[in-house]
Amino acid sequence: MKRIFIIFLPLIVLFSYFLIKTYFKADDMEKVEKPFVVILLGPPGAGKGTHAVELSKKLGLPHISTGDLFRENLKNNTQLGQKAKAYMEKGNLVPDDVVLDMLFARVSKEDCKKGYILDGFPRTIAQAKALKGKLKDVDYIAINLQVEDEKLIERITNRIMCRSCGTPFHKIFLPPKEEGKCDKCGGELYQRDDDTEAVVKERLKVYHDQTEPLIEYYANEEKVLSNVDSRGAKDIVFNNLMDIIDKNIR
Ligand code: AP5
Repeated sequence: MKRIFIIFLPLIVLFSYFLIKTYFKADDMEKVEKPFVVILLGPPGAGKGTHAVELSKKLGLPHISTGDLFRENLKNNTQLGQKAKAYMEKGNLVPDDVVLDMLFARVSKEDCKKGYILDGFPRTIAQAKALKGKLKDVDYIAINLQVEDEKLIERITNRIMCRSCGTPFHKIFLPPKEEGKCDKCGGELYQRDDDTEAVVKERLKVYHDQTEPLIEYYANEEKVLSNVDSRGAKDIVFNNLMDIIDKNIR
């Protein structure tokens, strides 16, 4: 009897391992005890918004885009929107204090209790440090989406977005099923004011100066940063993102 048990022991261990791994798969956040935050890093046009929308559905966590929050404020003509307008039009960053107040107010809402997906935040070392202070009892990872500048300009100048739900499409690579209409909610598709070639070039310059240093910042934190090649087909990039999340979720 003892011998049979010893022979089967490795099989039992292996079976238990796969059972636990399946049980804790990332698309079932109900079973994850600590809040889990995914930080999507990457230059403008790298695919942060595209993948954040899908990750949000798959993980059941809210997608928090600081760019979308500012655009929402602009649409509603709020004081915050007015403050951000001039910076956004020129492709510059909105000052840290404005961003931090807005972001922390949003993530303190009930729907963020189990975690959230950050798209476009942090964008400066000061923002990353402020975020770290808020993530004391939270598991978090940063995923850096990599695409070269030439491809980014092509992507952004051909992007069209839904006015209602913010889903991005691409005129050539990811066109909507029906022209001018969002596949997800039927909303109107439009081109962002800051998606002209001149503004995109400025946004890229700002990215390299102020946001790219975050890659090194997160690389210096143990087991936080992963890099993903975001030049391939959307589904392949998404599967690679999910693999990283699955490996990091506890
Ligand atoms: P924000 O809205 O965050 O813009 P961004 O960072 O410049 O990023 P984008 O939205 O342009 O790109 P993305 O990576 O989401 O790409 P997407 O998925 O759409 O910020 C706007 C402004 O707000 C800033 O300039 C700043 O002024 C202000 N702001 C925001 N946050 C701030 C902060 N924290 N601090 C200070 N200021 C802040 O993809 C792009 C295109 O490519 C789409 O057409 C998409 O369909 C296509 N695409 C994506 N993936 C693929 C693929 N795999 N294959 C083919 N096409 C693809």
